[in-house]
Amino acid sequence: MVICSWGRDMKPSDKYELVSELARRRGFFWPACEIYGGVSGFMAFGPLGTILKRKIEDKFRDLFLRRLGLYEIESPVIVPGRVFKASGHVEHFKEPMVGCTRCNRRFRADHLLQEFAGISSTEAEKMSLREIGEAIESRNIKCPECGGNLTEPRYFLTMFQTTIGPYAEAVGYGRPEAAQGIFVEFKRLYEQARGRLPMGVAQIGHALRNEISPRQGPIRLREFTIIDLEFFFDPERPECPLIGEVEDEVLRLIPAEVRLKDSEEPVEITVKEALEKGYIKMEWLAFFMALAKRFLVELGVPEDRQRFIEKLKWERAHYSVQGFDQEVYLDRWGWTEVSGHNYRTDFDLKSHMEESGVDMRVFKEDGRVVERVEISARPRMDKIGRAFKEETPKVVSLISKVDPEELEEALKEKGFYTLKGYKILPDHVEIVRRRHVERGRRFIPHVIEPSFGSDRLVYVLLEYAYTKRDTRTILKIPRDLAPIEVAVLPLVSRDGLPEKAQEVHRMLLDEGFLVEYDESGSIGRRYARFDEVGTPICITVDYQTLEDETVTLRDRDTWRQVRTEVRRLPQLLTEYLHWKRGFEDLGTPTEGC
Ligand code: GLY
Repeated sequence: MVICSWGRDMKPSDKYELVSELARRRGFFWPACEIYGGVSGFMAFGPLGTILKRKIEDKFRDLFLRRLGLYEIESPVIVPGRVFKASGHVEHFKEPMVGCTRCNRRFRADHLLQEFAGISSTEAEKMSLREIGEAIESRNIKCPECGGNLTEPRYFLTMFQTTIGPYAEAVGYGRPEAAQGIFVEFKRLYEQARGRLPMGVAQIGHALRNEISPRQGPIRLREFTIIDLEFFFDPERPECPLIGEVEDEVLRLIPAEVRLKDSEEPVEITVKEALEKGYIKMEWLAFFMALAKRFLVELGVPEDRQRFIEKLKWERAHYSVQGFDQEVYLDRWGWTEVSGHNYRTDFDLKSHMEESGVDMRVFKEDGRVVERVEISARPRMDKIGRAFKEETPKVVSLISKVDPEELEEALKEKGFYTLKGYKILPDHVEIVRRRHVERGRRFIPHVIEPSFGSDRLVYVLLEYAYTKRDTRTILKIPRDLAPIEVAVLPLVSRDGLPEKAQEVHRMLLDEGFLVEYDESGSIGRRYARFDEVGTPICITVDYQTLEDETVTLRDRDTWRQVRTEVRRLPQLLTEYLHWKRGFEDLGTPTEGC
């Protein structure tokens, strides 16, 4: 069924419409598989979008990983079913759905309640299937597409399910988050960190969520790139030694207690105060929220267009004991989540420990003396052999799996223990106790998780970069993130200027810049083309260049021009693109166009 509509039926002058049109035309992104009519929730990135997305991810790497000494890994997208059974996703990763009995379209039931019954998302998320069904019936909600009757609501598992190889029983899922790939590899990663905590590990990769009816273009995708950072720490040492670096950062916070009074008015509060007042319960959570705010500022989203909204208990993911969504204001959708910040405790490692039987605890020497008694049931082969004959190996194996304390208790109290139909007597086993003394403790690390969607960040960046000057579009992409950093343009395409410009272009390519050469059309039209894709600097090669090896540099945002020497370009441009130099410091001012 072709259900992709983005780009059509949009209200005029909506920024989403303008950005989407530009994104398609200039090669940032567009709906995937357009030649087959497209399908909602899948998007293709074009040449400029791919570079922009990579640069955003690299900025994350710089701010959150390189500077903090954290790791990055890559793990599979298709994951055995047991992983997501253990993580709780098989049980919890589902949404209420209704179908139309006439046109057969399916809808998120809670979204229909929001749209057609004015029930807030907070209230809708709290409702049981029965309550949703009753609300749909009592408010006479019909199919929004054809007016048909709706079915009873049921839950739809929003993970993509597959089989691994040709074995129906080998169920696998497309991962809905990259986090689990980090949790299941925790033991090896902890070894890599040479047994040190805290330890942070990120993964940037595709995730799959089989959304019921995604209608928000690049904002809600079925396949998207997730940036998950899992930060592991000792729950008995929860202090963040870096908190001083962010404690004066002001956050616009909507704590749960404010939301419970039916308000969405943010409190503007420093990180320090938010911790003191108990709005944010863990220092590391606050630290990464402050970093996330700075990250979004660097992507071009002003502070007053950002906020952190605390999730209420019933809105939180099953693994979270405290969670905030970082939201930015978008023209079409209002406040929209760009990242989630959750305190996942030891939930995931503990669940994988229980499901896999592998000990995920870490050991920390801390001077504490802890005595531990290990109890085991040792089979007495002579007695068991005589009693069970050829069944001996099976009985021995069963004894190795039994809880020795339970066995001992039964033998003492009843004089026997029934093990899968075999009667075990006291002389069949010896209960052995071993005393261990450890100078430290074993525990499962706790986790703080910041998580972003990079596709959504691309859209957010473009919406905030999108500006008009007269009738011209200027994409004010932060200069370090621009997919084309520099354009080299001969003033005219004759008299040796193209050859000279190509020489400058080649030199800048060799120096590693993302640089384009363009000689087609008037110089004004070429400037406009590069403004529209956010190229911060255009270099114009003119007749004077042939005489004195100087060029003009034109600023995308102000259209001002300066003149400078060709030989100084690599250093000047590097400093400019890294925010170490302003435009006016690039050369001597000239007459701008
Ligand atoms: N790992 C973050 C999320 O699932 O949203």
